[in-house]
Amino acid sequence: MKDTIQIAVVGSGYVGLVAAVCFAEMGHSVVCVDNDQRKVDALRSGDSLIHENHLPELLERYRNSKVRFTSDLGEATREAEAIFIAVGTPQGDSGKADLSYVEAVANEIARSLTSYKVIVEKSTVPVYTNEWIRRVMERNGVSQRLFDVVSNPEFLREGTAISDFLHPDRIVVGTDSEPARALLARIYEPLTNGSYYEQDDSIDGFRSSAAPPPLLFTSTKSAEIIKHASNAFLALKISFINAVSNLCEAADADVEQVARGMGLDSRIGPRFLRPGIGYGGSCFPKDVAAFRVVAEQLGVDFALLTEVENINADQKKRFLNKVRSALWTLRGKKIGVLGLSFKGGTDDIRESPAIELVEMLLAEGCSINAFDPAAMARAELVLPPGSNLRYMPDAYAVAHNAEALLILTDWEEFSHLDLHRLNGLMRYPIVVDGRNLYDPDVMSQNGFTYFSVGRPATQHVHELTTA
Ligand code: UDX
Repeated sequence: MKDTIQIAVVGSGYVGLVAAVCFAEMGHSVVCVDNDQRKVDALRSGDSLIHENHLPELLERYRNSKVRFTSDLGEATREAEAIFIAVGTPQGDSGKADLSYVEAVANEIARSLTSYKVIVEKSTVPVYTNEWIRRVMERNGVSQRLFDVVSNPEFLREGTAISDFLHPDRIVVGTDSEPARALLARIYEPLTNGSYYEQDDSIDGFRSSAAPPPLLFTSTKSAEIIKHASNAFLALKISFINAVSNLCEAADADVEQVARGMGLDSRIGPRFLRPGIGYGGSCFPKDVAAFRVVAEQLGVDFALLTEVENINADQKKRFLNKVRSALWTLRGKKIGVLGLSFKGGTDDIRESPAIELVEMLLAEGCSINAFDPAAMARAELVLPPGSNLRYMPDAYAVAHNAEALLILTDWEEFSHLDLHRLNGLMRYPIVVDGRNLYDPDVMSQNGFTYFSVGRPATQHVHELTTA
C-alpha cells in the first residue's frame, strides 16, 4: 500500500509547481499555496502557466484532486505534515539573495502552527537560512518541539523540470533531526526504493528500479552550500569553456574539438562544456552572485566567482563585436534574430543573454526582426515591438531581406533549418551563430559567411575580417 503524506508546497513557480505535481505523482496528497489569487485560479482551471514538458498532463491528472490550489497558507499549514517553501529568492542589493518572501512565509507558518511540522526549504538560499527560519519561528513564540527545519535543495532545470525531479542524480536532505529525516525518507521513498519507475504510466527518464537515486543526508548548512556550490561550479564550467573558446579563436583552433577532447576525460565529463554567448536564466546569474556575497560575508576570498561573472558578461560583448566585424557598421542594419529565451525548450527570458543582445543591437541603431518558438509573448513585455523591433511568425520570415542572421538560443528546431531556402531569402547570407548549432563547412558549402564561437570562420569570412 502507498504511504500517502500530506504535503504543503508554498509557491507555484517553476520549483513549487513542479514539486507539487511530482509529489502527487509519487502518491502524496498536496496543497499548493500561492498568494497570487489569479495564479491559483488559473492553476485550478488547468492553465499550467509555464512552458514545461509533461506539466500539462500531470496537472490535468491531479488538479483539484491530489493537488489542490489555494491562497490560504494557514489552512494548508494545519493540514500538512511537511511544508515545502519554494518561493522566489530574487537577487537583492549587490547580488545578495533577497529572503523577504521566505521570511514572510515563515512568519505566516508560525502563526498557524499547532502541531509538529517539518518545514523544508526548497528554494535556493544562502547558508544559515535554515537557522534564520528557526529564529523566525521562535520569535513568533513557537516552541522548538513543534517544528524542524530541513534543507532539501532542488536541482531541476527548466524545460526538463518534471523528469529532472522524478529522475534526480541525487536527493539531498540536510537535517540533524531524526523525525524530520524519517519523514523526508518516506516522502522520497517511491523514488529511492525504485517503485515509482515500475508504475505503468511513470514519466520516462534515466532512473529505473535497478538504478534508483541516492538519498544523501547532510547537515543543514552543508545542504545549503551543496546547492550554491553546484550551481556556481556549473557556471564556472561554462565560463571556463567560453574563455577557452576565446583562446581557440585567437589560435585558429576549434573549441568543439577541444571540448570533446576534454570531456572524454571522465574526471571532467562532457556536460556543461558548450561554449556560447554566456549563461543566463533565473538561477546561475543570481546564485553565483549570492554565493559570492555569502563568501564575502564569511570573510572568505572567492575571487574565482567574480571571474566567472566577468567572463560571462564579456562573452556577450565579444559576440556583439563579432556581429560588428561581420557587418562593418551596425547603425541602420537589418538583422534577423533567432531565439529570445535564455536556452532552448523554455519560454523563460529571465537574464536571457539573447534579450540583452537584442537590447545592445537596438542601442547600436539596428533594426531587428525576431522569432522564438515559445518566448515571444514574454519578450514583448520587456521589449515592446516598434519600428525597430518586429516579432515574426517563423525563422524564414526573420531571414527575409536580413543583412545578417543571428542565432541566440539553442532551440532544437534552429539546428535543422532549410539552408538553401534561408540563403535565398537573405539580403546577404551572413550567419553569426552564438550557439554553434551548425558545422562551419556545411554552412560555407551552402554559400553562407559563417561566424560561430571558438571556431575558425569560413575562408570568405576570414578575408573580410582581415581586410
Ligand atoms: C540551472 C541548473 O542546471 C539547475 O540544476 C538549477 O536547479 C537551476 O539552474 P536552468 O537555469 O534551467 O538550470 O538551465 P541550464 O540548462 O542549467 O542552463 C543555464 C544556462 O547556461 C543557459 O543560459 C544555457 O544556455 C547555458 N549553458 C548551459 C551554456 O551556455 N553551456 C552549457 O554547456 C550549458
